[in-house]
Amino acid sequence: MAISKGVGTINAESAGELDRIAEVARGMYRVARVALRVNPDIDAQTHANISTGLKSNKFGVPLHDARAIYAERRRLTSLKFVGVHIHIGSQITTAEPLRRAAEALVSLAMDLTEDGFSIEHVDLGGGLGIAYEGRPMITPSEYAAAVVPELKRLGVPVVLEPGRAVVGHSGALVCRVVDTKQNPDGRKFAVVDAGMTELMRPALYNSYHRIVPVQPRDSPETAWDVVGPICESSDVFARDRLLPELRVNDAVALLDTGAYGAVMASNYNRRLLAPEVLVDDTQWTVIRRHQTIDDVLALET
Ligand SMILES: Cc1ncc(COP(=O)(O)O)c(C=O)c1O
Repeated sequence: MAISKGVGTINAESAGELDRIAEVARGMYRVARVALRVNPDIDAQTHANISTGLKSNKFGVPLHDARAIYAERRRLTSLKFVGVHIHIGSQITTAEPLRRAAEALVSLAMDLTEDGFSIEHVDLGGGLGIAYEGRPMITPSEYAAAVVPELKRLGVPVVLEPGRAVVGHSGALVCRVVDTKQNPDGRKFAVVDAGMTELMRPALYNSYHRIVPVQPRDSPETAWDVVGPICESSDVFARDRLLPELRVNDAVALLDTGAYGAVMASNYNRRLLAPEVLVDDTQWTVIRRHQTIDDVLALET
């Protein structure tokens, strides 16, 4: 579909993928505009599960192999090599790994230009982090200050792929307390009606989301484990979180769920996807309705 639509560039993950794109394009009598994703073996200093630029990660091709991979495919008439691509990870909180990635990418693009490829752009990927816990965070200006000097060495347009930094703060997951209980050792649980099926990040990356009661009680804060209802012990949103008293039916909101929230939701445990509501000042609109059991069963025979 990408070839038939003539998308700007298809970023390929491997030499094999380039060859398969070439074959598909040839079959359609089209020329696919491609870039290769390179893996520079740079530690993005983020959570291991969202680090993508180390040589132990599955992503891209080793930086040092890229030049040969382009050269070997120079004569494929159904491919046009228009760029180079890198994406070293997500929730990156310091500029230096991003600068090093830009440096590596620009050096490769200069080598490829020397080899006779007309590189039209470099693609720096995404990765800019956001402040989930209110700690200082790299700003877009600091990011630019780190990478622009590198990019200027080449002087071609730059493609960026920010995701989280654009939408992360824009979402909240609102759920309801469905049970509270206390263990003999004193540990208190608030079970809410959302879980890893609606927000997977805490279970997947042990990630932190601020949790706020929608109508906080005027009571001292105590430590709560806020957990989901799914049959997994990793279905935990927060441990020992200081919160005012919570009671059944209270609404609580998990903040900063605009990125990697709803898109990672699943039907695990036969749970139905939650509705999505767009809030614009005082107006709100349901922009995706609640999934029904009929929606889910409709796929089955
Ligand atoms: C290739 C690529 N580009 C961009 C992004 C967006 O990353 P982020 O949300 O960290 O900006 C991702 C995220 O997985 C990705 O895989």
